[in-house]
Amino acid sequence: MKLSGKNLTGLCIANTHPQHALALSKNLGLNICANSKNALWLDWVNSKKDPTLKLAICSDTQGPVFVDFLAGKKAHRRQFGGGKGQPLVRAMGQTNTGLPSIIDATAGMGGDSYVLASLGFTVQMLERSPIVAALLADALTRAQKESVLLEDEITQSIQNLSLVNANSAEYLIEQKPQVDVIYMDPMYPEKKKKAAAKKEMQALQQLVGPDLDSEKLLEAALQTARNRVVVKRPKGADSITCNLNNIKPTSQISSPNTRYDIYVLKALKASGQL
Ligand SMILES: C[S@@+](CC[C@H](N)C(=O)[O-])C[C@H]1O[C@@H](n2cnc3c(N)ncnc32)[C@H](O)[C@@H]1O
Repeated sequence: MKLSGKNLTGLCIANTHPQHALALSKNLGLNICANSKNALWLDWVNSKKDPTLKLAICSDTQGPVFVDFLAGKKAHRRQFGGGKGQPLVRAMGQTNTGLPSIIDATAGMGGDSYVLASLGFTVQMLERSPIVAALLADALTRAQKESVLLEDEITQSIQNLSLVNANSAEYLIEQKPQVDVIYMDPMYPEKKKKAAAKKEMQALQQLVGPDLDSEKLLEAALQTARNRVVVKRPKGADSITCNLNNIKPTSQISSPNTRYDIYVLKALKASGQL
């Protein structure tokens, strides 16, 4: 499997759980750590409170970063994130038959996907970094096992999620999936003066770096989605340049730090831009 993003030659897999380590090493093409002097490594972590092993990115400078759909920040966002009224959800729109199906073309740590899945949308997560995809896959497998013991609503949220490790621009063009909405939240280049990013985002920045090819993805998304493409941007940032007829968003939804650029395909087709 080809590693994408930054040069990750320093990343290795801790040998604390040799069978897991060997399988992951084969899967990702990463070495097992020879010593403990690496800047960044993958390991399986647990705690007294939560004994389940979780695949995590570890470093000397901050605590382990893993994906957990059933606890922590994601569970909090599911319960208190603002439900169907939150801008992310409003940006997805509706279909005549109910909730649109969604491809999250930049799944990352799965935060946005899980919010949508927990509100009833079916979400296919696409992530091109094999390492980030491995963290998501580990979390999804754990959640599938554990959620059967929890409320039906949580079991359903997990069932609404699926995952593919692929470059979305290529996947959309090659597979031509039938989907209502394609959502994108590409990594934005780091600003020099910006306050330190949150732990998850710092790990993503280290692993994948900025996404410098979002135009390609936008173009593929506009040619694939049935209803709309939604792009998350930081407040004040330009919209992604679209090489296809210099297409601009047809509407926007703003929240304090974020803006959602919405490209409604019916409107773009009616105006002859698509
Ligand atoms: C800012 S993060 C997304 C965060 C995510 N919305 C969340 O809530 O956790 C962007 C992610 O998109 C992935 N990505 C960017 N371009 C991609 C592409 N063309 N195909 C697949 N994944 C892509 C990056 O590897 C990175 O993990």
